[in-house]
Amino acid sequence: MIVPKPVHCQVLPGRFVLGPDTALAADPALRAAAAWLRSEIGPVTGGDLPPAAPGPGTITLALADLPPEAYRLTVGEDGVRIAAGGPAGAFYAAQTLRQLMPPAAFRKAGPGGELEIRAAHVEDEPRFGWRGCLLDVARHFMTKQDLLRFVDLMALHKLNVLHLHLTDDQGWRVEIRRHPRLTGVGAWRTQSQTGWNGPFDGRPHGGYYTQDDIREIVAYAGQRNITVVPEIDLPGHTQAAIAAYPELGNLDTPLEVRTGWGIGTNVLNAEESTIRFFEDVFDEVLELFPSPYVCVGGDECPKQQWRDSPAAQARIRELGLAGEEELQSWYIHRFDTYLSARGRRLVGWDEILEGGLAPGAVVASWRGDLGAVTAARNGHDVISTPNTSVYFDYRQGPGEDEPVPFGTVLTLEDVYAFEPIPAELRGEPAAERVLGSQCAVWTELIDSPRQVDYMAFPRLAAFAETVWSPAGRDLPDFRQRLAAHLERLDAIGVEYRRESGPLPWQTRPGVPGRPETVDGWQSQLDAWTANLRR
Ligand code: ACM
Repeated sequence: MIVPKPVHCQVLPGRFVLGPDTALAADPALRAAAAWLRSEIGPVTGGDLPPAAPGPGTITLALADLPPEAYRLTVGEDGVRIAAGGPAGAFYAAQTLRQLMPPAAFRKAGPGGELEIRAAHVEDEPRFGWRGCLLDVARHFMTKQDLLRFVDLMALHKLNVLHLHLTDDQGWRVEIRRHPRLTGVGAWRTQSQTGWNGPFDGRPHGGYYTQDDIREIVAYAGQRNITVVPEIDLPGHTQAAIAAYPELGNLDTPLEVRTGWGIGTNVLNAEESTIRFFEDVFDEVLELFPSPYVCVGGDECPKQQWRDSPAAQARIRELGLAGEEELQSWYIHRFDTYLSARGRRLVGWDEILEGGLAPGAVVASWRGDLGAVTAARNGHDVISTPNTSVYFDYRQGPGEDEPVPFGTVLTLEDVYAFEPIPAELRGEPAAERVLGSQCAVWTELIDSPRQVDYMAFPRLAAFAETVWSPAGRDLPDFRQRLAAHLERLDAIGVEYRRESGPLPWQTRPGVPGRPETVDGWQSQLDAWTANLRR
């Protein structure tokens, strides 16, 4: 009944009864997992799991000679014993322990009393080191409180990377002290488009995280073994920044923060002052985010403005580049050099492969599998995040009643069938380059946390199995465990997509209740990935 499925799980006869007086004995190195158990379970039982020496009737957390994320968990009539390779393993053991309790253990509070834990022996460790989820807080802002709740839901599924897409054409969401208009202007737009092709809603939308908010989010995630990887997307996807500081762009006319969707034509210019501006931005971002990995985007950068701009053309000549395509890779190289000098590793979308890459750069492969295969064979580490398998903005079924009108269908079963190592790489040493995978919650058409719940769950539970559990799938077994897991999500208050029943909400008025596709989008993707084959 555990999700994601552990490496080994044997349910045993009997149970352990956790009551208000049950005590907890933890190795000092594992005190974070102990604190988490106390804060989550205490309000349900009315006890506070007081510290104790290991002994009968207690929950014991001990260090063992195991990999840092691995654990062994034994629940018997006489107590609970957890042996963990480190704080992460202890935290995952605590997550599993709660899943051996009834759904009531997932509520924020209870009447007090006893909780039964099923007797079991679990041996477990993750298959991949990178088990991520991208959350797009740029297209629609998510409040700090809702974001912290999302972090808890990731932790429940033993994910360990939150890729925060913080900036885009439609909004800039992180305070930068040196350049305050990025949020003063760039965090706010006058309205939003409804659906890909629909009318505009006439409602302002905005918000951003202060630096104190970011420090809190990073610390909260860290306590749950989740690294927050920031993304500042450039040189495309930058209209909100250009609206705030027009000197970053290529045009003489002012821009507003973008209100529609799709790939924007407004991109950064290549002046040295623009590079310095973004180095200022990254100086502050690196202070806020201790992550060894920092994403600079690099996706979907139309080159027309550079073709049309005499200044960009002069810059291309001055830098001795062959053309606009090389200007894009020059951009990425500049920030790769900047990040490497500061001990961080650049992550970029697979478009960054198109101009040759510095050896330490990590490729987030999103346009199908090809970027992953190309990058790994060229010696780059890879995060496998193919739109065809893990993009949770895609509709979950073919029916007309799906409330978010994205044309492409990606069912729960499709996600469960996903294999992070691309078929072409299997059996090759290059497969070792796949660090893992991340699913993606892009939010152009998802305008509230309720919709995020609906689009992310239960697909995120299926995704978690693809990165945590041993290779190989068993759909009937997953379905059975998922049924138990949905009761946990109900207890937490997650509005996941149900197989049947009324929808809990509708999208904005005016959104067509039928699938929409972006004109020519798939053929555009195909044309771009064809470039990767060169
Ligand atoms: C992406 O979906 N543009 C990375």
